[in-house]
Amino acid sequence: EAQLQTLAPMAPVHCFSVIDSTNQYLLERVSRLQSGESCLAECQTAGRGRRGKPWVSPFGCQLILSMYWRLEQGMAAAMGLSLAVGVAVVEALESLGYPGVELKWPNDLYYQGRKLAGILVEMSGSAGASCHLVIGIGLNLAMPERQGEKIDQAWSELRHVQPELVDRNQLAARVLQHLQQAMVTFEQSGLGSFVDNWNRLDYFAGQPVKLLMGDQVIRGIARGIDDRGALRLETDEGIKFYLGGEISLRRG
Ligand code: BTN
Repeated sequence: EAQLQTLAPMAPVHCFSVIDSTNQYLLERVSRLQSGESCLAECQTAGRGRRGKPWVSPFGCQLILSMYWRLEQGMAAAMGLSLAVGVAVVEALESLGYPGVELKWPNDLYYQGRKLAGILVEMSGSAGASCHLVIGIGLNLAMPERQGEKIDQAWSELRHVQPELVDRNQLAARVLQHLQQAMVTFEQSGLGSFVDNWNRLDYFAGQPVKLLMGDQVIRGIARGIDDRGALRLETDEGIKFYLGGEISLRRG
């Protein structure tokens, strides 16, 4: 029996052909935005990645989007948010028939060991008060080889997952829909309800890894995340937990 799917009304979506950065666009306007309001672009001239790195965003080759959210509980409550976002994006892809996409802690989307998409959450606001969040996603769809050469790590694209790509508007709508739903859930109950799914999608699950923290290298077996979003590492001295910051994780 056919089911009528009713969708929650969407907040405005600002669409651009070329923009400096969709995250920047929303960050500059936080005081006038409503939660869920989004920005989409075909191309970014100053796309931002994590750790201050640039994000290569050539024309028409990626899904480039950002969503604004006002978190009433304040900045401290945003911990672990990017992990929830990762789950939401993978589930959006699964729902459109793109299987096998995984998550690499803290929040890269991976396909067959290569980076498919990146997530950058930026915040503004003062401690104690509600804070402004901008959640940015860059997802490779079909990157021409010469554009891919500018990317400094092994990358994948959605057409590797499934050669027949769905319509980009449909993809954008589905990702925004899942993101919005995830934010409502996250606001109500934190990371808790995402942890099992994050662990189901964990690219490194059960594998030897090394964790790089400044000059320090810590080896262990990856055992998913806990309720705070901390990485669980099984080391010679037992299970240890690591929370965000300037940590990166590699195959051990
Ligand atoms: C990463 O380094 O993995 C995060 C990349 C995030 C890129 C997206 S593209 C849309 C949004 N706007 C930006 O300037 N960055 C994010």
